[in-house]
Amino acid sequence: MSGELAGAAASGWVPPALDAEAFATEQNALGQVWTLLGWTRDVAREGDWFTAHLGGRSVFVQRFREGLRAFENKCAHRFFPLRQGETGNGPVICGFHHWRYNSDGMAIGIPKSEEMFGATPRDMGICLRPVEIEICGSLIFGRFASAGHPESLRAFLGPLFDIVRAMSPDGIAPLRGASVLPFNWRFAYEIALDDYHIVAVHSDTFGKRGYMLRDRVQYERSGPHSAYCAARVPDLLEGMASACNAGTYRPSNDYLIMHLFPNIALVQTHVATVMGVRYVYLMLLQFVPLAPDNTLLRWWLWPSPFPTGDTPLQRVFRRISMPISLPLTRRGMLRILAEDNAVCAHLQAHARPDDGPPRLGAMEERIGWHNEAYRQVLEQARRDAARE
Ligand code: FES
Ligand SMILES: [Fe+2]
Repeated sequence: MSGELAGAAASGWVPPALDAEAFATEQNALGQVWTLLGWTRDVAREGDWFTAHLGGRSVFVQRFREGLRAFENKCAHRFFPLRQGETGNGPVICGFHHWRYNSDGMAIGIPKSEEMFGATPRDMGICLRPVEIEICGSLIFGRFASAGHPESLRAFLGPLFDIVRAMSPDGIAPLRGASVLPFNWRFAYEIALDDYHIVAVHSDTFGKRGYMLRDRVQYERSGPHSAYCAARVPDLLEGMASACNAGTYRPSNDYLIMHLFPNIALVQTHVATVMGVRYVYLMLLQFVPLAPDNTLLRWWLWPSPFPTGDTPLQRVFRRISMPISLPLTRRGMLRILAEDNAVCAHLQAHARPDDGPPRLGAMEERIGWHNEAYRQVLEQARRDAARE
């Protein structure tokens, strides 16, 4: 990193948006944090696999007879990607020289092993880099092992673990999509944490009614995560988690957004009520860092799985109207994202290493919380590296 960029890194986060080395340092640190990799429904059958990104690296998750496992997507021989594409099914055999790996990531089949390498695969004892995985509801999270982050996924997510589990039960089949955005992931993430821009940027939708009243809404911080609710609800997340566990949670608020560190936004939104039928949807957005100025946006959208209390007639109406309400919700979501993305593209184009820290107001408080958690993760990675 240049001296100018190194100096700026101490005061803000802009350098990873501009500089490949600062980005790689950031990604190495974030690769040690529990991160969403994908959905259990995508690895339902033995042999199924999908690829994902973790800490700036390609990884794959696969269902073996022994269970789910994940590894860095890189052959231990000469680093060819073992999996190409997004999903598939089959044994782990490298396409370059046919090394074959088992469910522990051990190279158990090496063509002409003794002739080429003077040893059997067992004697060579070569292994893929493992990714630790844990499941919450339908979601598979992963991280590269490190001394600095020993906590389980449940401990990491806190009350959000029970909430996410209840919101993503087995059997849901979300609508999904993905697109590559031409800016750094943190511009995208921060705009989702910002409730101040809605009047200027979403003037036809969210911002139509003017600025929200800060003392009428709930902001809550939970470890590195945070939440916003469009109503005053003390102990928001703990209360929701208890209700989810008791099976009594019902989505009564119009809008709730939970930010799971480092790069997930989980939105619960009540989009309409027609004939007494409340349409509540869940949207999961993930801003996956690909490069300093490139982000993969992945999204999933599904109806709230909680009991609705519909009458038999309302149940029929809900079923009939779902093919209309779901695409409408999708369209609304993509429109708002497009408005945000236009702002982020300008931020990326004009970012400079000497921009200094931003001036965050009361409706941008959660950006400050996220930045603090981000700095702590980078600091932890630095301490771990110094110890090694
Ligand atoms: S690079 Fe995979 S077998 Fe050679
Ligand atoms: Fe926005």
